Amino acid sequence: MPQQASTIAEKVDALYLFLWGVTAFFTLLIFALILFFAVKYKRGRVADRSNAPDTDHKLEAVWIILPLAISLVIFGWATAIFFEQVRPPADAVEYFATGKQWMWKFQSPEGKREVNELHVPKGRNIKVTMTSEDVLHDLFFPAFRTKADVLPGRYTNVWFNATKTGTFHIFCAEYCGMQHSLMIGKVIVMEPNDYERWLTTATSGTAGQATAAGNETPAQAGERLFTQYGCQTCHQSTSGALGPALAGVYGAEVELQSGDKVKADDNYLRESILNSSAKIVKGYQGVMPNFKGQISEEEVMSLIAYIKAQKGSGETAQNLTPTGN
Ligand code: CUA
Repeated sequence: MPQQASTIAEKVDALYLFLWGVTAFFTLLIFALILFFAVKYKRGRVADRSNAPDTDHKLEAVWIILPLAISLVIFGWATAIFFEQVRPPADAVEYFATGKQWMWKFQSPEGKREVNELHVPKGRNIKVTMTSEDVLHDLFFPAFRTKADVLPGRYTNVWFNATKTGTFHIFCAEYCGMQHSLMIGKVIVMEPNDYERWLTTATSGTAGQATAAGNETPAQAGERLFTQYGCQTCHQSTSGALGPALAGVYGAEVELQSGDKVKADDNYLRESILNSSAKIVKGYQGVMPNFKGQISEEEVMSLIAYIKAQKGSGETAQNLTPTGN
């Protein structure tokens, strides 16, 4: 077993141990009975072979009820862990990951970029929002006992709360081509103080990914891109604007031209940027150009972070996850 380094690791291992124990118990029981009966009824041995009963309801009830009960325990237990594993806590801090043949690119909420290395503080709920630039990958933190597929064209999440400082493996857990087995990395868990210091002292060039923009946060990068791509010419809060205003839209319900209502989550915003005509907001024309192929996945993530950071007025504010602050 790899080290247990997250809040969920012990729970996953306890279930795994239980499954292992049940399997071992029945395997041993069955083998012991085979041996026992093979010896007892060996040819030539004196044994009572008359009148074997062909039904025994009590015995049948036992072999129906017992396995059913064990299966239901496994089902309930595993489901509880699964829900905990796939639902990031509301206060989770958002990191970004992009999979690409054959490397992992990460960005912290503070804007620090890394390749195949991810520094995180201990004891904080951390959510990683992920997408792929090419094929299917899978981000796997064995010591945190969590992983999830990383898909082109969609956002998925993993979350964890690291309980131990140290360096742990990152693997790609989905065959993704020639160098799949080399698509590995390290997650470095630090004491919060050390992490803060690391953020301010380490240059963003350590991971070979220094950008001209330096250490701007995803939301700041998004703001820059928003102007660069001319988004603000249409997305204004004034009436008669060509595009809907974006403040407070994240997490809110949006009514579409078709009459359907959708929740403005990460995947909706992503689709609306890359393929703007897919879901047109009620009261607007589909005049926005598609950005598919024009901007990178990291730019899309930054734009979404910027949109998230624009709190709406009043009731939608609680839907906003803290980003970049
Ligand atoms: Cu990426 Cu396997």
